[in-house]
Amino acid sequence: MLSVVPSPITVRAPSKVNLHLGVGDLRADGFHDLTTVFQALSLSDDVEIAPAASLAVRVSGEGAAEVPTDRTNLVWKAAVRLAHLAGRAPLVEFAITKGIPVAGGMAGGSADGAAALVGLNELWDLGLTREELAAVAAELGSDVPFALHGGTALGTGRGERLLPVLSRNSFHWVLALAKGGLSTPAVFAELDRLREHGSPPRLGEPQQLMQALASGDPKQLAPLLGNDLQAAALSLKPELRRTLRAGVTAGALAGLVSGSGPTCAFLCESEDSAVSVAAELAGAGVCRSIRTASGPVPGARVLGGETPG
Ligand code: C5P
Repeated sequence: MLSVVPSPITVRAPSKVNLHLGVGDLRADGFHDLTTVFQALSLSDDVEIAPAASLAVRVSGEGAAEVPTDRTNLVWKAAVRLAHLAGRAPLVEFAITKGIPVAGGMAGGSADGAAALVGLNELWDLGLTREELAAVAAELGSDVPFALHGGTALGTGRGERLLPVLSRNSFHWVLALAKGGLSTPAVFAELDRLREHGSPPRLGEPQQLMQALASGDPKQLAPLLGNDLQAAALSLKPELRRTLRAGVTAGALAGLVSGSGPTCAFLCESEDSAVSVAAELAGAGVCRSIRTASGPVPGARVLGGETPG
């Protein structure tokens, strides 16, 4: 008798930029309390999931050689966790196509973890709700719940507690990908060190920024962008100062380090402006490569045959 093998599923998951990233003090559990506003961007990863004889991870695309294919990859952790919950064996192969820079401060690993959760829920017909998936996502990493959620959201706690934020229109971004990555724990530790030795300015609350998002006007939003981790990323990679200056000189409304960096994100007035800023930055020799992107976009979702919810 023929057994029915489910066909592979492909899930697309977005990158993110933190429009506002306020970092509190180091907590006893090694994390920092955050007040952050995330925006999901069109620069994304695709994760194909297929039934297999054993758990395996293959990676291609942007920075693939630096991505682990063992149990430390978040897709692997997602499979083990969901298989445990479902009382089955994690017999799947993941084929990840990277579009999001690796160790770039854009939550690429978290996007893959979120994609795995959404895809396995479908492939194994688990029937888990978005809330149930979000709880598993928070166990995988601080940014994984937002990669599921997408759109624009206010994140508190470690960044895993989310509330949707009203955002009108699309915003247009240029992303300057750096040579080499930065480790997120190292950037947080550098901020703690800077704070021990001085008092780098701390962001206030993001109320005004959220009003600017609701207005949909990038010119209102630009001066309100801010990232407490930027000082730490610049301390570890001083060459990013040049990149940030070059983007604004090229015509961007504002630039900031994305998350823990080292990717620099530049907000532009329009899609046309983003294309021209990208072209000029490409010629300035201040980064490894350039991408354009827009946001907000949805969270991790199955490609083809979308199901509601
Ligand atoms: O949650 P995630 O695995 O992405 O966090 C990676 C590391 O980043 C943590 O181990 C911690 O050092 C740092 N981090 C932090 N505070 C947060 C999120 C991450 O200190 N809110």
